[in-house]
Amino acid sequence: MEPWSPSSWRGKPAEQVPEYAGKAALAEVERQLAGFPPLVFAGEARKLTRLLAKAAAGEAFLLQGGDCAESFVEHSADNIRDFFRVFLQMAVVTTFAAAVPVVKLGRVAGQFAKPRSLPTEICDGVELPSYRGDIINDIAFDAAARAPDPARQLMAYRQSAATLNLLRAFATGGYANLENAHGWVLGFVKDSPQSARYEELASRITETLAFMRAIGLDPEAHEVLRQTDFYTSHEALLLGYEEALTRIDSTTGDHYATSGHMLWIGDRTRRPGFAHVEYARGIKNPLGIKCGPALSPGELLRLIDILNPMNEPGRLTLICRFGADKAAECLPPLIRAVQREGRIVVWSCDPMHGNTVKAAGGYKTRPFDKIMSELRAFFAAHRAEGTYAGGVHLEMTGKNVTECTGGARAISEADLHDRYHTYCDPRLNAEQAIEVAFLVAELLKKERIERGRSQADAAE
Ligand code: PEP
Ligand code: CO
Repeated sequence: MEPWSPSSWRGKPAEQVPEYAGKAALAEVERQLAGFPPLVFAGEARKLTRLLAKAAAGEAFLLQGGDCAESFVEHSADNIRDFFRVFLQMAVVTTFAAAVPVVKLGRVAGQFAKPRSLPTEICDGVELPSYRGDIINDIAFDAAARAPDPARQLMAYRQSAATLNLLRAFATGGYANLENAHGWVLGFVKDSPQSARYEELASRITETLAFMRAIGLDPEAHEVLRQTDFYTSHEALLLGYEEALTRIDSTTGDHYATSGHMLWIGDRTRRPGFAHVEYARGIKNPLGIKCGPALSPGELLRLIDILNPMNEPGRLTLICRFGADKAAECLPPLIRAVQREGRIVVWSCDPMHGNTVKAAGGYKTRPFDKIMSELRAFFAAHRAEGTYAGGVHLEMTGKNVTECTGGARAISEADLHDRYHTYCDPRLNAEQAIEVAFLVAELLKKERIERGRSQADAAE
């Protein structure tokens, strides 16, 4: 293997690269970022790797989710809090209903750069560069707004730091205490069918805690009941930014990306020998690879060899995003190749990105039924192959948006314009996200029971 350095990606062909006009201004921003404090620490990334190793072994489940693209305009304490509340609810549903520990990983505090299918966008006969996420340019359709501006990277760094600070406070400062499980329900979700199911579950938690107290166990004395571990992740797309925040960990001498705990490589930039794979192979953080329908088993194995040559458990999460109609056909050949080679991975399902459709009125949307159906197909494929469905990757928000059709409130295409706020892809709203969590819990529980049964049969 050729030697690696945080900048060795610069010698490789790269996809999805924004064209900055002023190279000197860009270099100056990267110089400043390189001097800023790290956002996350190597020890935290290592801990996440250990947790993901459990997910790979079927002893934990990965819950990864957040906005498709974070935005500067929507940066507020309320948005972060509402996202975190829904996320905690989803985690509790999965943990309690399926009795599986949940690894909580936000698509947050750094999810700013977006790959695009087309480099430009045409509107009323005017052609401008595509919007590539707030870290690169502005969503407004005018030439000045769409010009990549390096100063935006400084804003993204600062927003990430502030978001992470609040999330850390929520996770460890009492908000995530299981005693508060009832209090996480958002106002607008209160009268929904999902909410009744959730309230019932939260009441069982309250009862359990009361029972603990009654027999002399003080829940307050147990850290795991009072606080939680929460990690951050984003797509490692803007490599100059990632390079500037790559640091050597003094305790091990290894390089870590300090912009987030886990980074993933997108489906459009995962070519072996190209810049994004080159950058990722040298950092020690846990990594994700988006796996779309075009990924062949051979190419996947090449990627695994490059990114995890030592077969370290927890290092790699394969985030599968085939679409409900393709999952049953695309997934088994990949699972078999990975099994045959004895490679250890977390299999995670992104039921969002393969199910995007254009609705009347031009809105990008995702039918809720398709999302649920891809999740079912994912679990079924793993059941058939004897492997673990290890996680889920969702685009979601704590807001009451109308971006994905369907769900308990049967959002229709005609409703989409009501509260369509996303900066990129359509997200699950809070109710839809909780509904997904209940389905995941149900599928996990079923998997557990079946596995237990076949183990008992084998023992007889
Ligand atoms: C995304 O996660 O927002 C994304 C662009 O995904 P993918 O690379 O799988 O298309
Ligand atoms: Co997206």
